[in-house]
Amino acid sequence: MTVDILMPRPMLLSVQEKLDAAFTVHRLYDADDPEAMLAEIGDKIRGVALSWSKIDTAFLEKVPNAEIIASFGVGYDHVDTDDCLAADVMVTHTPDVLTDEVADTAIGLMIMAIRELGQAEQWLRDGNWTGKGPYPLTPATLRGRTLGIFGLGRIGKAIAKRAEAFGLEVHYHGRSRQDGIEYPYHASLTDLAAACDTLMVVAPGGAETKHAVNREVLDALGPQGFLINIGRGSVVDETALIAALEAGAIMGAGLDVFEYEPEVPEKLLQLPRVTVLPHVGSASQATRDAMGQLVVDNLKSWFETGKAVTPVPEMG
Ligand code: DGY
Repeated sequence: MTVDILMPRPMLLSVQEKLDAAFTVHRLYDADDPEAMLAEIGDKIRGVALSWSKIDTAFLEKVPNAEIIASFGVGYDHVDTDDCLAADVMVTHTPDVLTDEVADTAIGLMIMAIRELGQAEQWLRDGNWTGKGPYPLTPATLRGRTLGIFGLGRIGKAIAKRAEAFGLEVHYHGRSRQDGIEYPYHASLTDLAAACDTLMVVAPGGAETKHAVNREVLDALGPQGFLINIGRGSVVDETALIAALEAGAIMGAGLDVFEYEPEVPEKLLQLPRVTVLPHVGSASQATRDAMGQLVVDNLKSWFETGKAVTPVPEMG
Protein backbone atom coordinates (compact mmCIF):
# COMPACT_ATOMS: atom_id res chain seq x y z
CA MET A 1 0.00 0.00 0.00
CA THR A 2 1.55 3.33 -0.99
CA VAL A 3 1.39 6.48 1.07
CA ASP A 4 -0.41 9.50 -0.42
CA ILE A 5 1.59 12.72 -0.35
CA LEU A 6 0.41 16.20 -1.25
CA MET A 7 2.69 18.61 -3.11
CA PRO A 8 1.06 22.08 -2.98
CA ARG A 9 3.70 23.75 -5.17
CA PRO A 10 6.24 22.42 -7.66
CA MET A 11 9.51 21.18 -6.20
CA LEU A 12 12.89 20.47 -7.78
CA LEU A 13 12.74 17.78 -10.45
CA SER A 14 15.22 15.65 -8.46
CA VAL A 15 12.84 15.75 -5.48
CA GLN A 16 9.78 15.00 -7.57
CA GLU A 17 11.45 11.95 -9.12
CA LYS A 18 12.41 10.54 -5.72
CA LEU A 19 8.99 11.22 -4.23
CA ASP A 20 7.24 9.67 -7.24
CA ALA A 21 9.35 6.53 -6.79
CA ALA A 22 8.41 6.16 -3.12
CA PHE A 23 4.90 7.60 -2.77
CA THR A 24 1.70 8.45 -4.58
CA VAL A 25 2.14 12.17 -5.12
CA HIS A 26 -0.84 14.49 -5.62
CA ARG A 27 0.15 17.79 -7.23
CA LEU A 28 -2.19 20.49 -6.01
CA TYR A 29 -0.75 23.04 -8.44
CA ASP A 30 -1.83 20.88 -11.40
CA ALA A 31 -5.49 20.99 -10.39
CA ASP A 32 -7.89 23.34 -12.20
CA ASP A 33 -9.72 23.72 -8.91
CA PRO A 34 -7.31 23.09 -5.98
CA GLU A 35 -10.10 23.38 -3.39
CA ALA A 36 -12.19 20.75 -5.17
CA MET A 37 -9.14 18.50 -5.39
CA LEU A 38 -8.49 18.88 -1.67
CA ALA A 39 -12.14 18.12 -0.90
CA GLU A 40 -11.86 14.94 -2.96
CA ILE A 41 -8.48 13.55 -1.84
CA GLY A 42 -7.75 15.45 1.40
CA ASP A 43 -8.75 12.53 3.64
CA LYS A 44 -6.14 10.17 2.21
CA ILE A 45 -3.19 12.59 2.40
CA ARG A 46 -0.71 11.43 5.05
CA GLY A 47 2.20 13.73 4.30
CA VAL A 48 2.93 17.08 2.65
CA ALA A 49 6.06 17.87 0.65
CA LEU A 50 6.16 21.62 1.06
CA SER A 51 7.95 24.46 -0.61
CA TRP A 52 7.08 27.81 0.90
CA SER A 53 3.28 27.62 1.11
CA LYS A 54 1.33 28.53 4.20
CA ILE A 55 0.36 25.83 6.68
CA ASP A 56 -2.10 26.57 9.46
CA THR A 57 -5.19 25.06 11.05
CA ALA A 58 -7.36 26.07 8.08
CA PHE A 59 -5.10 24.06 5.78
CA LEU A 60 -4.64 21.14 8.17
CA GLU A 61 -8.41 20.73 8.42
CA LYS A 62 -8.43 19.95 4.70
CA VAL A 63 -5.90 17.13 5.18
CA PRO A 64 -7.14 15.74 8.52
CA ASN A 65 -5.03 12.57 8.34
CA ALA A 66 -1.74 14.30 7.54
CA GLU A 67 1.02 13.17 9.89
CA ILE A 68 3.96 15.18 8.62
CA ILE A 69 4.78 18.45 6.86
CA ALA A 70 8.22 18.11 5.27
CA SER A 71 9.23 21.66 4.46
CA PHE A 72 11.98 22.63 2.02
CA GLY A 73 14.33 25.25 3.50
CA VAL A 74 15.81 25.92 6.89
CA GLY A 75 13.34 28.76 7.59
CA TYR A 76 9.76 27.68 8.21
CA ASP A 77 7.94 30.87 9.20
CA HIS A 78 5.24 29.94 6.65
CA VAL A 79 4.34 26.96 8.86
CA ASP A 80 2.37 27.63 12.03
CA THR A 81 4.08 25.17 14.34
CA ASP A 82 1.60 25.78 17.17
CA ASP A 83 -1.24 24.74 14.87
CA CYS A 84 0.75 21.68 13.78
CA LEU A 85 1.51 20.70 17.37
CA ALA A 86 -2.18 21.10 18.25
CA ALA A 87 -3.09 18.80 15.36
CA ASP A 88 -0.29 16.35 16.27
CA VAL A 89 1.46 16.91 12.95
CA MET A 90 5.25 16.57 12.68
CA VAL A 91 7.10 19.44 10.96
CA THR A 92 10.56 19.03 9.43
CA HIS A 93 12.93 21.45 7.71
CA THR A 94 16.30 21.25 5.94
CA PRO A 95 19.06 22.66 8.15
CA ASP A 96 22.85 22.11 7.98
CA VAL A 97 23.10 21.18 4.30
CA LEU A 98 22.76 24.87 3.35
CA THR A 99 24.78 26.47 6.14
CA ASP A 100 28.02 27.06 4.26
CA GLU A 101 26.29 28.11 1.03
CA VAL A 102 24.21 30.76 2.80
CA ALA A 103 27.23 31.97 4.80
CA ASP A 104 29.24 32.31 1.57
CA THR A 105 26.42 34.32 0.00
CA ALA A 106 26.15 36.53 3.09
CA ILE A 107 29.83 37.44 2.94
CA GLY A 108 29.62 38.03 -0.81
CA LEU A 109 26.58 40.25 -0.37
CA MET A 110 28.29 42.23 2.39
CA ILE A 111 31.35 42.91 0.25
CA MET A 112 29.20 43.71 -2.79
CA ALA A 113 27.24 46.25 -0.78
CA ILE A 114 30.14 47.93 0.99
CA ARG A 115 32.43 48.07 -2.05
CA GLU A 116 29.59 48.71 -4.53
CA LEU A 117 30.71 45.82 -6.75
CA GLY A 118 27.38 45.45 -8.54
CA GLN A 119 27.29 49.16 -9.34
CA ALA A 120 30.93 49.06 -10.49
CA GLU A 121 30.17 46.14 -12.82
CA GLN A 122 27.20 48.07 -14.20
CA TRP A 123 29.52 51.05 -14.76
CA LEU A 124 31.76 48.88 -16.95
CA ARG A 125 28.83 47.24 -18.78
CA ASP A 126 27.33 50.66 -19.52
CA GLY A 127 30.57 51.72 -21.25
CA ASN A 128 31.40 54.28 -18.58
CA TRP A 129 34.93 53.00 -17.95
CA THR A 130 35.99 53.97 -21.45
CA GLY A 131 33.55 56.89 -21.66
CA LYS A 132 33.83 58.58 -18.27
CA GLY A 133 36.86 56.91 -16.66
CA PRO A 134 37.27 54.79 -13.54
CA TYR A 135 34.37 54.00 -11.21
CA PRO A 136 34.34 56.53 -8.33
CA LEU A 137 36.17 55.48 -5.16
CA THR A 138 33.80 53.91 -2.66
CA PRO A 139 33.25 55.90 0.54
CA ALA A 140 33.04 52.65 2.50
CA THR A 141 35.57 49.89 3.04
CA LEU A 142 35.40 46.55 4.79
CA ARG A 143 38.63 47.39 6.59
CA GLY A 144 38.20 48.17 10.27
CA ARG A 145 34.52 47.26 10.36
CA THR A 146 32.70 45.65 13.25
CA LEU A 147 30.08 43.10 12.29
CA GLY A 148 26.99 42.70 14.45
CA ILE A 149 25.22 39.41 13.84
CA PHE A 150 21.54 39.25 14.70
CA GLY A 151 20.84 35.53 15.05
CA LEU A 152 23.95 33.52 15.93
CA GLY A 153 22.62 30.09 14.98
CA ARG A 154 24.30 27.64 12.64
CA ILE A 155 24.39 30.07 9.71
CA GLY A 156 25.25 33.05 11.92
CA LYS A 157 28.25 31.16 13.33
CA ALA A 158 29.43 30.18 9.84
CA ILE A 159 29.23 33.85 8.83
CA ALA A 160 31.11 34.88 11.98
CA LYS A 161 33.92 32.43 11.23
CA ARG A 162 34.29 33.81 7.71
CA ALA A 163 34.08 37.42 8.94
CA GLU A 164 36.91 36.76 11.40
CA ALA A 165 39.05 35.51 8.53
CA PHE A 166 38.35 38.86 6.82
CA GLY A 167 39.67 40.64 9.91
CA LEU A 168 36.32 41.89 11.20
CA GLU A 169 35.44 42.14 14.86
CA VAL A 170 32.25 40.18 15.57
CA HIS A 171 29.48 40.94 18.10
CA TYR A 172 26.05 39.32 18.35
CA HIS A 173 22.50 39.57 19.62
CA GLY A 174 19.92 36.83 19.97
CA ARG A 175 17.37 35.56 22.43
CA SER A 176 20.11 34.87 24.98
CA ARG A 177 23.86 34.85 25.56
CA GLN A 178 25.35 31.56 24.37
CA ASP A 179 27.69 29.50 26.51
CA GLY A 180 31.16 29.04 25.08
CA ILE A 181 30.84 31.92 22.60
CA GLU A 182 33.45 34.62 23.06
CA TYR A 183 32.02 37.28 20.75
CA PRO A 184 30.59 40.18 22.79
CA TYR A 185 26.85 39.71 23.41
CA HIS A 186 24.35 42.58 23.41
CA ALA A 187 21.05 42.08 25.19
CA SER A 188 19.17 44.36 22.79
CA LEU A 189 19.34 44.75 19.04
CA THR A 190 19.69 48.52 19.39
CA ASP A 191 22.74 48.02 21.62
CA LEU A 192 24.23 45.65 19.06
CA ALA A 193 23.63 48.17 16.27
CA ALA A 194 25.24 50.93 18.34
CA ALA A 195 28.32 48.77 18.92
CA CYS A 196 28.89 47.95 15.25
CA ASP A 197 28.76 49.57 11.81
CA THR A 198 27.66 46.54 9.81
CA LEU A 199 24.54 44.70 10.89
CA MET A 200 24.00 41.21 9.50
CA VAL A 201 20.46 39.89 9.88
CA VAL A 202 20.35 36.09 10.00
CA ALA A 203 17.37 35.84 12.33
CA PRO A 204 14.38 33.71 11.33
CA GLY A 205 11.08 35.29 10.33
CA GLY A 206 7.82 35.10 12.28
CA ALA A 207 5.95 37.16 14.86
CA GLU A 208 8.85 37.28 17.32
CA THR A 209 11.22 39.06 14.92
CA LYS A 210 8.77 41.04 12.76
CA HIS A 211 10.18 44.54 12.10
CA ALA A 212 12.86 44.01 14.77
CA VAL A 213 15.12 46.16 12.59
CA ASN A 214 13.26 49.46 12.87
CA ARG A 215 14.25 53.12 12.63
CA GLU A 216 15.68 53.13 16.16
CA VAL A 217 18.01 50.25 15.31
CA LEU A 218 19.04 51.87 12.02
CA ASP A 219 19.74 55.19 13.72
CA ALA A 220 21.92 53.33 16.23
CA LEU A 221 23.82 51.71 13.35
CA GLY A 222 24.75 55.19 12.20
CA PRO A 223 25.79 57.08 9.07
CA GLN A 224 28.68 54.73 8.24
CA GLY A 225 26.37 51.77 8.72
CA PHE A 226 25.41 48.98 6.35
CA LEU A 227 22.49 46.64 6.88
CA ILE A 228 22.85 43.18 5.34
CA ASN A 229 19.81 40.87 5.36
CA ILE A 230 20.26 37.20 4.51
CA GLY A 231 17.56 36.01 6.95
CA ARG A 232 13.95 36.99 6.29
CA GLY A 233 12.46 40.14 4.80
CA SER A 234 9.87 40.46 7.56
CA VAL A 235 12.61 41.10 10.15
CA VAL A 236 13.30 44.52 8.61
CA ASP A 237 10.76 47.34 8.50
CA GLU A 238 11.32 48.13 4.82
CA THR A 239 9.61 51.53 4.99
CA ALA A 240 11.89 52.53 7.87
CA LEU A 241 14.90 51.20 5.95
CA ILE A 242 14.08 53.29 2.87
CA ALA A 243 13.59 56.38 5.05
CA ALA A 244 16.89 55.77 6.85
CA LEU A 245 18.76 55.34 3.56
CA GLU A 246 17.16 58.46 2.08
CA ALA A 247 18.04 60.50 5.16
CA GLY A 248 21.63 59.20 5.29
CA ALA A 249 20.94 57.71 8.72
CA ILE A 250 22.78 54.64 7.38
CA MET A 251 25.05 54.46 4.35
CA GLY A 252 23.82 51.40 2.50
CA ALA A 253 22.26 47.97 2.46
CA GLY A 254 22.72 44.52 0.97
CA LEU A 255 19.48 42.55 0.76
CA ASP A 256 18.82 38.97 -0.30
CA VAL A 257 15.32 38.90 1.18
CA PHE A 258 12.40 41.34 1.14
CA GLU A 259 9.28 41.98 3.14
CA TYR A 260 6.88 41.20 0.26
CA GLU A 261 9.19 39.27 -2.07
CA PRO A 262 9.30 38.81 -4.96
CA GLU A 263 8.03 42.41 -4.89
CA VAL A 264 10.85 44.86 -4.19
CA PRO A 265 9.93 48.52 -3.59
CA GLU A 266 10.90 50.73 -6.53
CA LYS A 267 12.38 53.29 -4.11
CA LEU A 268 14.82 50.68 -2.81
CA LEU A 269 15.96 49.95 -6.36
CA GLN A 270 16.61 53.61 -7.03
CA LEU A 271 18.82 54.22 -4.01
CA PRO A 272 22.52 54.34 -4.98
CA ARG A 273 24.09 52.24 -2.23
CA VAL A 274 21.71 49.31 -2.14
CA THR A 275 22.65 45.87 -3.42
CA VAL A 276 19.76 43.54 -4.09
CA LEU A 277 19.70 39.80 -4.77
CA PRO A 278 16.61 37.68 -5.52
CA HIS A 279 16.74 35.40 -2.44
CA VAL A 280 19.63 33.27 -3.67
CA GLY A 281 21.26 32.51 -0.31
CA SER A 282 21.14 28.75 -0.77
CA ALA A 283 20.39 28.70 -4.47
CA SER A 284 23.07 26.51 -6.03
CA GLN A 285 22.02 23.28 -7.69
CA ALA A 286 24.11 21.16 -5.31
CA THR A 287 22.78 22.79 -2.14
CA ARG A 288 19.17 22.85 -3.30
CA ASP A 289 19.47 19.16 -4.29
CA ALA A 290 20.79 18.36 -0.81
CA MET A 291 17.89 20.28 0.76
CA GLY A 292 15.46 18.39 -1.47
CA GLN A 293 17.04 15.08 -0.50
CA LEU A 294 16.37 15.95 3.15
CA VAL A 295 12.68 16.51 2.36
CA VAL A 296 12.58 13.05 0.80
CA ASP A 297 14.57 11.49 3.67
CA ASN A 298 12.25 13.00 6.27
CA LEU A 299 9.15 11.64 4.57
CA LYS A 300 10.64 8.20 4.00
CA SER A 301 12.01 7.95 7.51
CA TRP A 302 8.69 9.03 9.00
CA PHE A 303 6.67 6.43 7.15
CA GLU A 304 9.27 3.68 7.54
CA THR A 305 10.34 4.19 11.15
CA GLY A 306 7.95 6.75 12.69
CA LYS A 307 10.88 9.13 13.23
CA ALA A 308 11.80 12.30 11.35
CA VAL A 309 15.43 13.08 10.44
CA THR A 310 15.38 16.85 10.97
CA PRO A 311 12.31 17.94 12.97
CA VAL A 312 12.01 21.67 13.68
CA PRO A 313 13.05 22.50 17.28
CA GLU A 314 9.45 23.13 18.38
CA MET A 315 8.70 19.42 17.90
CA GLY A 316 10.77 18.74 21.02
C1 DGY B 1 15.86 28.92 3.70
O1 DGY B 1 16.18 27.76 3.53
O2 DGY B 1 15.09 29.27 4.56
C2 DGY B 1 16.51 29.91 2.82
O3 DGY B 1 15.92 31.16 2.93
C3 DGY B 1 16.55 29.47 1.40
O4 DGY B 1 17.53 30.21 0.73
